[in-house]
Amino acid sequence: MKTFEERKKEADAIIEKYLRKEDGPDKTLIEAMNYSVRAGGKRLRPILLQSFGLMYGAEEERIEPFMAAIEMIHTYSLVHDDLPAMDNDMLRRGQPTTHAKYGAGMATLAGDGLLSDAHDIMCEAMNKALLGKEDPSESIDDVISAIYATSFISHNSGVDGMVGGQSLDVETDKLGRDVTGEELTYIYSHKTSALIIGAMMAGAVLGGSELGDDLNLIGQAGNKIGYAFQIRDDILDIEGDEKVLGKETGQDERNGKSNFVTIHGIENSEEAVEAFTEDAKTDIANLRHVKDEEERLFVMDLFDRLTERNH
Ligand code: IPE
Ligand code: IPE
Ligand code: MG
Ligand code: MG
Ligand code: MG
Repeated sequence: MKTFEERKKEADAIIEKYLRKEDGPDKTLIEAMNYSVRAGGKRLRPILLQSFGLMYGAEEERIEPFMAAIEMIHTYSLVHDDLPAMDNDMLRRGQPTTHAKYGAGMATLAGDGLLSDAHDIMCEAMNKALLGKEDPSESIDDVISAIYATSFISHNSGVDGMVGGQSLDVETDKLGRDVTGEELTYIYSHKTSALIIGAMMAGAVLGGSELGDDLNLIGQAGNKIGYAFQIRDDILDIEGDEKVLGKETGQDERNGKSNFVTIHGIENSEEAVEAFTEDAKTDIANLRHVKDEEERLFVMDLFDRLTERNH
């Protein structure tokens, strides 16, 4: 059973294969795109995608393009999130943010480039599924699962997912009042949970059609663990160590942001992180069509690690 650290290294190597060469007239753009991806990060979403894929018996080779795509989309969301017009952050993944190094214009385009390349990579994966077998009638399951995986990722990264959540996050920053419970639920489940849900569901569906009700349960678990993840992120913004985190602390306060922690306090927030994590683990424990039990345990263990993470 591979450890989280081993999986992170593996994810880094897989993502690297899908990055562009830094040459041509748009060399600076490509450098800026690669800079933000290579800066690192936990690779949580590709690791989840891979683990759910393996849990349902997907071939590793078919999981790889989707791992790269989801991390490129996540990285683009961070590059844009850090822009002066959004959170105005200068430090990300232990390095100057993309806009601090390349300017806001190039950072905006680097994000656009990563998002588009991610979709290009997923289209290529669909195409490969279509042409993968000598007898086209044998390709149909692979094609369908590649289409579903692409659709889960693009749906959850867009207006009905991360982008929609970020929009309310930006808007409520300017209100000068606490966000309501309803607003907070919308923001967290969209800006953070959605990409995590997309990763988990895409992985699972690549495993095949024998998912039954598991897919719904995976969506619910993803929503809960995303919630726990974002509350922990908000706690770390207050009490984290900038060097370990690799991003500036105290940013939410500087930006006048109200979130779960500013509303409920640290102690209640820590309890909420634990409660959401336990609930998410119960959902995973209840999945009925899992093929690889070790992967189920890996995910449950990973959820526990996220509760205690300090970066
Ligand atoms: C940061 O995500 C943005 C949030 C959704 C809280 P991560 O904490 O996964 O960032 P990286 O990928 O490890 O840098
Ligand atoms: C998550 O919220 C942002 C994204 C979905 C990109 P934050 O704005 O709190 O994330 P960090 O703290 O900058 O990583
Ligand atoms: Mg933000
Ligand atoms: Mg931010
Ligand atoms: Mg934050």
